[in-house]
Amino acid sequence: MAKFLVTGGAGFIGGNFLHRMVKQYPQDEYVCLDALTYAGNMETLQPIMNCSNFKFVHGNICDRDFIFKLFEEERFDYVINFAAETHVDRSIKNPEIFLKTNILGTQTLMDASLKYNVRRYHQVSTDEVYGDLPLDRPDLFFKEDTPIHTSSPYSASKAAADLLVLAYHRTYHLPITISRCSNNYGPYHFPEKLIPLMIQKALRNEPLPVYGKGENVRDWLYVDDHCIAIDLIVRNGNDGEIYNVGGHNEKTNIEVVKTILNILNKPESLISFVQDRLGHDLRYAIDPSKIEKELGWKPLHNFNSGIQETVKWNLENQEWLSHVESGEYLKWIEEHYNS
Ligand code: NAD
Ligand code: TYD
Repeated sequence: MAKFLVTGGAGFIGGNFLHRMVKQYPQDEYVCLDALTYAGNMETLQPIMNCSNFKFVHGNICDRDFIFKLFEEERFDYVINFAAETHVDRSIKNPEIFLKTNILGTQTLMDASLKYNVRRYHQVSTDEVYGDLPLDRPDLFFKEDTPIHTSSPYSASKAAADLLVLAYHRTYHLPITISRCSNNYGPYHFPEKLIPLMIQKALRNEPLPVYGKGENVRDWLYVDDHCIAIDLIVRNGNDGEIYNVGGHNEKTNIEVVKTILNILNKPESLISFVQDRLGHDLRYAIDPSKIEKELGWKPLHNFNSGIQETVKWNLENQEWLSHVESGEYLKWIEEHYNS
């Protein structure tokens, strides 16, 4: 039996991770800590709210007193940090909150992990810390020792956090692992990100805003495959190691958008090319051979099956999406604190 702290579990990937783990490991306890920013949604946690091995705690990873008190009370064995500001476009408009949450929040969690002797601190990171690859070199991939070379305030804040995690390992011997995953997609994805945004716009016959020429490449991984990888790394990964996670599903943005339109039987005339993102990374592509060889991980989904399932989920969960779009999902905080 082990006790896990999962931060950012009311978000997209953390929520999917908890859905799977709480049911897969009934002997373990999972505490979800989330600040419920605009990206956190209690409706995402509804399927596990009544599970006896699950508990939700509302709080901020930057709040030192609160975090130390929580660690004192709960005595976690493992800490898995999903909590972050995650949207590149928002980081371009307002970098500061990215630095606070993604860097200082990580430091606070690691200080508490050191004081209370957690068995493993796991940092959920991103392939964006490696910067981008050229479009005309399909032979190049990100490996774990590819130099850090960031483009956006988001990726710079994630890279800073990764360096801090490695420093805490070297200097204070904090037991750590880091996973760097490619772009995720699947259920409960906040509709400001490419795939859920395009599905929603297509359903409403609204223009689909594609940045630049739509030729940028992302390496798409179904969210469940990422969750399985994190579980393997936390339980079996080697102390101090970084693991890249990705499934060789590279697609240009325009391919992704056309696939969604095709599944929904909507016309390509809905595509609208708009001004490019500042500093827009050209291509991400992961070499996952280390996690495949060392931990036996392989993705279970390919892009064709994953995108079909994702469109289906969005069609069947329009209530979840409409509550996000109307702001209804934010009422949880009001109801719990102002009543
Ligand atoms: P998300 O934006 O959907 O969710 C983030 C969650 O963190 C939200 O529930 C939010 O309320 C919470 N949060 C934000 N600031 C907080 C704070 N200060 N204290 C406590 N909670 C806070 O993000 P996501 O897409 O689920 O990403 C989760 C993690 O995975 C992030 O660290 C991200 O960098 C990483 N990642 C994401 C992707 C992707 O494609 N989405 C790919 C690779 C890595
Ligand atoms: P996004 O989902 O924001 O993830 P990231 O920037 O972390 O990779 O964007 C994925 C790709 O889609 C990226 O190249 C930017 C592009 N994009 C658009 O073309 N239009 C949009 O409206 C959005 C949100 C993204």
